[in-house]
Amino acid sequence: MSSLQLVNAHVVNEGRVVAADVLIRGERIERIGGGAVPAGTTTIDLRGLHLLPGLIDDQVHCREPGLTHKATLATESLAALCGGVTSFLDMPNTQPPTTDLTALADKRRIAAATCNVNYGFYLGATNTNLEEIKRVGPEDACGVKVFMGASTGNMLVDDPVALEGIFAAARLPVATHCEYSPLIWENEKRYRERYGENVPIEAHPLIRSEEACYRSSSFAVGLAKRHGTRLHVLHLTTARELDLFDRGPIEGKRITAEVCTHHLWFDESSYATLGTKIKCNPAIKTAADRAALRAAVVDDRIDVIATDHAPHTLEEKARRYFEAPSGLPLVQHSLLMLLEQHAQGLFALPKIVQKAAHNPALLFGIVERGFVREGYYADLVAVDLSGKTRVDSKQLLYKCGWSPFEGTEFRGRVALTVLNGVPVFRDGEHMAGPRRAQALQFTLR
Ligand code: DOR
Repeated sequence: MSSLQLVNAHVVNEGRVVAADVLIRGERIERIGGGAVPAGTTTIDLRGLHLLPGLIDDQVHCREPGLTHKATLATESLAALCGGVTSFLDMPNTQPPTTDLTALADKRRIAAATCNVNYGFYLGATNTNLEEIKRVGPEDACGVKVFMGASTGNMLVDDPVALEGIFAAARLPVATHCEYSPLIWENEKRYRERYGENVPIEAHPLIRSEEACYRSSSFAVGLAKRHGTRLHVLHLTTARELDLFDRGPIEGKRITAEVCTHHLWFDESSYATLGTKIKCNPAIKTAADRAALRAAVVDDRIDVIATDHAPHTLEEKARRYFEAPSGLPLVQHSLLMLLEQHAQGLFALPKIVQKAAHNPALLFGIVERGFVREGYYADLVAVDLSGKTRVDSKQLLYKCGWSPFEGTEFRGRVALTVLNGVPVFRDGEHMAGPRRAQALQFTLR
C-alpha cells in the first residue's frame, strides 16, 4: 500500500487551525500528528501552507449527457480538481433530463469512465415522476432536485399536487430552485413591451425579482414544515429570504440553505462590465442583498457555499437578453474566490471549510469525506495564503473556455490537491494517470 506524508501543514478543520503532519496510507488518512512512518513513504513539505479538506460542491452542471458542446464531466471535473474541489454533486437538467433511475445509472457509467473528482447525482423531479422519487435511494442519488422556478432545461415543477407528493414522499434531501415563474413571466412581458428584444441586462434582477424568490422559497419552506421534509434551498440571493432560515449548526436542521460564490461576490453594479456573462438564475441582486448573504454565512443561517457551476459557450452568452442562457463557469475558481474574501476579512478559514466541505458532507450523508479525520478518505487541498493567482484565459480548463474572472488577481493559490490519497494537482500541474475518482456514497440522516 502506498503511503504519503504531508508535513508541517496548518490543518484547518472542525473550527480550528492546528499545526500537524498527516500520514496517508492508500486512499485514507491514517494519522494526524507526528510519529514513525512506514519505509518508502513519500513526503511533501507543506511549510507555509494551510491544509483543508477538499471542497465538496453540492451544485454543478456538467452538461452530460446531451449538452457536451458546453461541458463534459471530464473537462469540468479537471477544472474542479485544479481548483481544490475534490467532490461534486451534478444536476439533472441534461439531455435527456435525469428523471428516472435508468438516466441516473447512465450518468454514473459516464462518470466512472471519465470523471476526475468524486461524484454524485441528483434525480430531477417532474410534475409526473413521483413513482421514481419514491423509489430512488441513497445508493442511486444524493438528492431530489426540484425546479420550483423555470431555468435552463424546462424542468419546472409547478403542479401543487405534485409538489405536495414530492415533499411528502422523498426519502432523500429535496434541493429546490426557488423562483416563482408566473411573476417572472409577467415581469418579462412588461419589459418586452417597453424594450422589445433589447431589454438591458440590468433588468435581470428586476425581472427575476426579490418577490419571485421570496414567494417560492417561503412556499417551499412551508411545504417542508408541513411534511417534515429534509429541504435544502439552493442559491439564495436576497436578504428577505434569510428570515426563513434558522441560525445554528447544521446538525439537527431539517431545513437548510445554500449560497453560491458568485452571489457572494458580484452585485448589480457588475452587469455594467460583465453583461450577460453573469446572467444567472436566480439573478445577482443588490449590494445590500450581498452584504446580508455574507452575514448569514457568518451567523449560520446559510449552511453551504457552492457554485452552481453552469457553463455555456461564449457565443451563447453573447446573445441578447432573452436568448442568452443563464449560468457561468466557476468551479476552478470557487476556492480562490473564498480565499480572496478571507483576505478581505469577510470569512475565517474554518468558516469556509465548514460551509464548503463539512456541511455538504453532513447534509447529504456523504460517507467518510469532508473532514480531515483519521480513517476518512484523504481528499485534501493545500493552499498558499501569501501566494497570488492571476486568472489567465490560457489556464482555463472549462470546455467553454471563458471565465468572468479573466484578468482578476486573487490573493491565494491552490498549491496541491490530493484525491483519494493521491496527489493529482501540484503547483499548477495536474497529474494525468489512471482515474482516481470514486462514486460518493450517501447515507440517510
Ligand atoms: O443560472 C443558472 N444556470 N441557474 C440554473 O438554475 C440553471 C443553470 C444552468 O443549468 O444553466
